[in-house]
Formats: sequence, C-alpha cells, structure tokens
Amino acid sequence: MTTKPVIVGITGASGAVMARATVDALLRRDIPTVALCSNAARLVWQEEMGENFNDTLVEWQEHPSFTHYPINDLRAPVASGTYPTAGMVLVPASMNSIASLAGGLSGNLLLRSADVCLKERRPLVLVPRETPLHSIHLKNMLTLSRMGAVVVPPEPAFYLKPKGIEDIVNFVVARIFVALGLEDSMPDEMQYQGPEE
Ligand SMILES: Cc1cc2nc3c(=O)[nH]c(=O)nc-3n(C[C@H](O)[C@H](O)[C@H](O)COP(=O)(O)O)c2cc1C
Repeated sequence: MTTKPVIVGITGASGAVMARATVDALLRRDIPTVALCSNAARLVWQEEMGENFNDTLVEWQEHPSFTHYPINDLRAPVASGTYPTAGMVLVPASMNSIASLAGGLSGNLLLRSADVCLKERRPLVLVPRETPLHSIHLKNMLTLSRMGAVVVPPEPAFYLKPKGIEDIVNFVVARIFVALGLEDSMPDEMQYQGPEE
C-alpha cells in the first residue's frame, strides 16, 4: 500500500458521483488522499449531488488521511515536483482541463499538479466525460496518452450486467485503482466478480 498521497482532481464534467466514490474508496483503505476541485466542478457538484461541495469536504476532513487545497493555492505542496506523490486521477475530467493539460497549461493547482505528474513521469489517470467527441477532444487525449497518461472512459461493462449507477461507478473506480497501480488496495466490493449467470 502506498504511503505517498494520491491526488484526486475533480473537474467540471458530469460525473461528480465518480469523484465521490473514488475519494471514499481511497479513504476506506486509509490511502492518503489529496482532493482538488475546480470552480466549475463545484457547480456540477451542487447540481448532481444536491449538496454543497464544502459540506462534502467537512465530511471527508474527519478522516485523518484526507487533505484538501483550494484550487488557486499554487503554494500547496502538490504544486511542486519535489513533493512525492503516488500519482493523480482527474475524475471526472472535463474537455477544458484535458485541453489545458495537452497544451501544457497549468493555471490552477489542479492543472499544475497534473502537469507535475506528467513531467515527473508519475501515474496520471484521466476519466474523460463528454459525448460526442470532436477531433480536438480526441487529439488532446491522444497527446496525453502518448505522454504516459492512462485514459479511462467511464464506460459500463455491460457484460457484468450492472444493476444501476452504483455498479457502474464501482467498476470505473476499480479501473482507476488498477491504472494508478493500487489494485492490491482495491476495496472488496470492487473486485472483479465475473458476469452474473
Ligand atoms: C452541469 C454541467 C455539466 C457539465 N458537463 C460537462 C461534461 O460532461 N464534460 C465537459 O467537458 N464539460 C462539461 N461541463 C462544462 C465544464 O464545466 C466547463 O467547460 C468548465 O469550463 C470546465 O472547467 P474545469 O476544467 O476548470 O473544471 C458541464 C458544466 C455544467 C454546469
């Protein structure tokens, strides 16, 4: 199990529930977790989760392994390559943040932290959410993939016959754990069970 923190970057694409589940799963395994949330993600959080992101933060902050930095806090430790981390996941990853990263832009703490992962060759996992995709979206993801990022679209495994959103989200979180090299720390309910008969 990693003692270095995993960074969870939450951007303003649809899919706040996946960010919630990712942070919850990391904390359930006592993995040090740093959450960064863009301003747009806060709007989506309110819309999709029906609660203010700050209220969720209060809940997470009860866990000793949890840390949060404001999106403009460019002096936070995760902004520096000298601060060791186990990598970062952008979940969900907006096309805006993906485009910024692919262009080498790092104008907020979330983008800077992801840029640091790229330059330090640390795991960077992107969970893009947009449909349909145009050529620039695809090109940006290709650019980042060629730089070492792992692109994990949040697509259901239909062969597992998911019963609802929770099953789909658990599957995506499991893929995130694998992409981050944390499969040994994956919560039991996210282990592959095989298709239902
Ligand atoms: C309710 C809502 C849903 C959105 N869904 C998406 C989406 O699925 N994918 C996406 O790329 N942008 C989506 N957006 C637009 C982004 O929030 C917008 O491009 C924003 O600038 C992203 O900023 P960020 O990358 O700093 O988080 C959505 C916006 C709102 C308000």
